[in-house]
Amino acid sequence: MNVRVRAAATSANLGPGFDCAGMALELWNELEVSEAVSGANGTVVEVEGEGISETPRDGNHLGLRAFALITEVEGKRFRFLNRIPFARGLGSSSATIALGLVAACLWEGVEPDPAELLPLAARLEPHADNIAACLYGGVTLAWEEEGLWRCRRIANSLPLDLIAVVPEHSVETITARAGLPAEVLHADAAFSSGRAALLGASLATSDAQLLAAAFHDRLHEPYRSAAAPLLGQLQEKPARGSVGVTLSGSGPTIIVWARHEESQACAEDLTKRFPDCRVLAFAVATSGAGAF
Ligand code: HSE
Repeated sequence: MNVRVRAAATSANLGPGFDCAGMALELWNELEVSEAVSGANGTVVEVEGEGISETPRDGNHLGLRAFALITEVEGKRFRFLNRIPFARGLGSSSATIALGLVAACLWEGVEPDPAELLPLAARLEPHADNIAACLYGGVTLAWEEEGLWRCRRIANSLPLDLIAVVPEHSVETITARAGLPAEVLHADAAFSSGRAALLGASLATSDAQLLAAAFHDRLHEPYRSAAAPLLGQLQEKPARGSVGVTLSGSGPTIIVWARHEESQACAEDLTKRFPDCRVLAFAVATSGAGAF
């Protein structure tokens, strides 16, 4: 028996949608699960691509921990192909969790249901905005209700193009979250909730002007800018054609937003300005994690 699944990169928050907004991006990690070769005891884990030196090769691997929430990992061979940059704010952990959950469902002959998998995934990644976008695909809003995470896909596309600027250094989400204050000023909360409302409205109506107006946050970005210095640099001196800049998840990747007709010039400008970074133009991925 053999199952092959894929799961997309994601970018969470989109500025003021802290811990709720997310989008899936056309960059896919893959997993193939098969029976371990006959006579082999235990579990075999193989990893190729991004993050190979940081990834455990045993049951501590996040993908195997996810798989084990549904069925037995023992006696199986797991082959991961990682394309999503590791610890850069592009949802590599969420994709790994999604791969494990979806592969386990298919192994058991069950159709993966994102609504059922999301609460399971949240056991491994309690802020479920990335994993929601990864499981559902498209542009999503996620929220917690009576202890369970729920999600709705709000849009399949965006009215602006997005370009990711991925620096060489990594930031662990746990560290980035530890740097957030326990309390914020009422004025900052009011500012951010107003922008989050704009964000939701602009996504639902595909209004480019409203979306560009939404890209301001005071709940998390100001506290993370020291570890993501490109954010301040691109806010102070915007790239050519840029209409907004947001931190991707907890960073350090930055998302630069541009109108479609200017996005190529914007990407060229970013490539020139930041030769040490990867500059990646992304389309929204409209499929959730699944077989392929
Ligand atoms: N919403 C989460 C955060 C996403 O900002 O910490 C982590 O990628």
